[in-house]
Amino acid sequence: MKLVKHLANLGYGSRKEMMALIRNGRVAAADGSPLDFDSTIAHREIRFDGAPLDPDASAVLMLNKPLGYTCSTKDPGRIVYDLLPMRFRFRKPPVSPIGRLDRDTTGLLLFTADGAFLHRVISPKSNVPKVYEVTLARPLKGDEGAIFAAGTLMLESEKKPLLPAELEELDPHHARLTLHEGRYHQVRRMFAAIGNHVEALHRAAVGGVALGDLPEGKWRELTPDEAESVIKPS
Ligand code: URA
Repeated sequence: MKLVKHLANLGYGSRKEMMALIRNGRVAAADGSPLDFDSTIAHREIRFDGAPLDPDASAVLMLNKPLGYTCSTKDPGRIVYDLLPMRFRFRKPPVSPIGRLDRDTTGLLLFTADGAFLHRVISPKSNVPKVYEVTLARPLKGDEGAIFAAGTLMLESEKKPLLPAELEELDPHHARLTLHEGRYHQVRRMFAAIGNHVEALHRAAVGGVALGDLPEGKWRELTPDEAESVIKPS
């Protein structure tokens, strides 16, 4: 793709603005040589004010989502896009969250502009496991693991029972829950259905990718191997 269009699609500005920046030498090759408006140089070889460009449209990003941010572009409050560079809002194709987390859920949120990848992750056929750390208002009774594993639990106003899910008790008020689907407010509704209440919810992993030591509110690009392991955990 030609340089001006590539930069405009990444949200750096309009094509006209990009032409001005290129003319002023602010966009160059990694070796410092100047570039033309219609250069088709590889993405990784381009520098903007000396720095590599934002990840390209095939990239997968991870964010450590803090409390209080919604996965929406329209919410009047704080939104997850506030935690990404402002220009990401102007990207074509847009960068979208892969699945959602509630405003009051923290942890691993993936983003991509690659629609095929997004659908591979959220497709029920892919069966990508999602691991949640749950803090509960009331102590676990001991039968929750068997109830969730049975694959028979029905949530209110749903037509199909939940798929089997795995619960690991960490202590009476804390558990690790692995889901293989993603229904609306699923973890909170599962515990509500059995008479408990989720006080805090944190997603620690999606497929083979864990949050690791990424600080809260920060994002980074996944390596190609990490992105592949979202769908095919090793
Ligand atoms: N389940 C929930 O209840 N909330 C989330 O954000 C994710 C899973």
